[in-house]
Amino acid sequence: MTATAHLQAGPARASEIEARIGELLARMSLDQKIGQMTQPERAHISPAEVKAYHIGSVLSGGGSCPGDNRPADWVAMNDAYWAASMEEDEDHLAIPLLYGVDAIHGNGNVRGATIFPHNIGLGAMRDPDLIERIGRVTAREVLATGVDWTFAPTLAVARDPRWGRTYESYSEDPALVAEYADRIVRGLQGARNGTGPDRPGRGGVIACAKHWVGDGGTLAGVDQGDTVAAEEELRRLHIAPYLPALDAGVLTVMVSLSSWNGEKCHAHRYLIQEVLKRELGLRGFVVSDWNGIDPLAEDYAEAAAMAVNAGIDMFMVPETWRDFIGGLKQRVEWGVVPMQRIDDAVTRILRVKFAAGLFDRPRPWARRGANGSSFGSREHREVAREAVRKSLVLLKNEAGTLPLDRDARILVTGRNAHDRGAQCGGFTVEWQGVSGNDAIQGGTSVWEGIQARAPRAEHRTDGGADASPDDFDVAVVVIGERPYAEGLGDIREPGPVRPGANHVPAGPGALQPYGNTLELSALHPEDVATIQALSGRGIPVVTVLVSGRPLVVNPELAASAAFVAAWLPGSEGAGLADVLFGDHDFQGRLPRSWPAEMPSGEDPRRNGSVAGGASILFPIGHGLRTR
Ligand code: GLC
Repeated sequence: MTATAHLQAGPARASEIEARIGELLARMSLDQKIGQMTQPERAHISPAEVKAYHIGSVLSGGGSCPGDNRPADWVAMNDAYWAASMEEDEDHLAIPLLYGVDAIHGNGNVRGATIFPHNIGLGAMRDPDLIERIGRVTAREVLATGVDWTFAPTLAVARDPRWGRTYESYSEDPALVAEYADRIVRGLQGARNGTGPDRPGRGGVIACAKHWVGDGGTLAGVDQGDTVAAEEELRRLHIAPYLPALDAGVLTVMVSLSSWNGEKCHAHRYLIQEVLKRELGLRGFVVSDWNGIDPLAEDYAEAAAMAVNAGIDMFMVPETWRDFIGGLKQRVEWGVVPMQRIDDAVTRILRVKFAAGLFDRPRPWARRGANGSSFGSREHREVAREAVRKSLVLLKNEAGTLPLDRDARILVTGRNAHDRGAQCGGFTVEWQGVSGNDAIQGGTSVWEGIQARAPRAEHRTDGGADASPDDFDVAVVVIGERPYAEGLGDIREPGPVRPGANHVPAGPGALQPYGNTLELSALHPEDVATIQALSGRGIPVVTVLVSGRPLVVNPELAASAAFVAAWLPGSEGAGLADVLFGDHDFQGRLPRSWPAEMPSGEDPRRNGSVAGGASILFPIGHGLRTR
């Protein structure tokens, strides 16, 4: 059954669910209720503790994987947690555990998964139908591991490319994000009316729209920073994409670690309780982000109480889950947190579990989708390869350099030419992603895709140091960023961000940004050196940029005969060859403005542009064709 079928199966079914919730809630103790609201990380809790503390959910942080990180290892882990949660006795009620992961571009944690382009590349496709298909494939590969919940889609409207999470945003344009929002939710959760093509067990997973709200609008793109905006602008730019997602029945929403006008979203009662729940009608539950309550108050129990009273229902408290449980219980007993708020939170959590059919599903290893043979299958990879093709944006093509002749003598080089890890970026096998090819099983690098088409292509790791136009007709130079995630991808000066601006970074990541400029020639000077050396010797260069965002690439562009923005294409690098050799023409269009210079200001609205206030080289929507 699809994840929202029970919610949409009609009033009779919905009222049956509400009756079951009421009956169960009436039997629950305060400990059992608070347990349902608690989400530890797998490395910090055992199945026995899940039962002893009545835990409602467990998650894997990025890269936190069981055993040999194969689907069977995940199924076994989830089965153990589920079994513990269902062992009813005089102290424990059988309420199925909900396991959550960041399957944000395919089930990225797991070896051998189909890895789709990150959202910035999907935004370049302008293809909502394909977005829904991607959601459906992703759901299948999540269910194959016994997992029911993904912390996706990200509905951020990234307004400044200096943000380390720009690649998780479909676009700087809220309208494009909104156009995808309902489709990705339907793809992940299964058809809204529950009569979709999926059979029980192969249906949907629970989706999670994130991060509520304004995560992509912070000053200078600082991760977890402060979004300074009037409410009208917050609604127009950052809340707008949530409306179609809510209409599509998204079951959960994750709160942002950022602030709005200096107030942490995790403590923002108006945004959560009044706007998201009351005004916009979320019927599912709200989950905090990773340690999101920590900065709210010196006293952890007080911080927990603030967040619960603000309207958050479930708490991602990876290591401090015991303190959370004890602190919240104390604040309930003191009357600081009303029992009505606890009951509302638990009602919402139970509603999602019933809506997703968790009470009706068999144990993880007995489910039809578990260890599904479609995991990482050729069929799934073809969907990802189509997305790669459609995501590529052609920014320059002098003298018809592209498409390439498959019989040409092609030199392929550059740091990211044969690096499936770089293609995938962050949230792939590891939180920060991986470099190289070993950890990304299945799939193809850019070089492997070219090699399969062009018998006279040659890969060089030395940048083609002695290559001559006598030996090569053209060079394909694949450059760009190494993998990163979240604050580690920010572009700003290293070190603590001005506390006065309420940019209170959490954890070590926010302190070591990727670099202090968007100028690629400063971040990775070897890239422009390679391009200039080859073009300077008379070999025309097709430059392919693998990056999580637009970068300032003026010298690289100038020295290239053709230039392709490939974003973070994921595991199916062969999709580039499909277009470079002309089987398919370029169709991608920029999902965001391309800056001509390094943004200097804090305010993304300066200059009327959205590239962090910088002047624009290519506008949103730009993209060339070869024919
Ligand atoms: C991270 C991210 C969030 C992710 C969560 C679990 O800090 O902000 O997007 O879903 O933690 O990994």
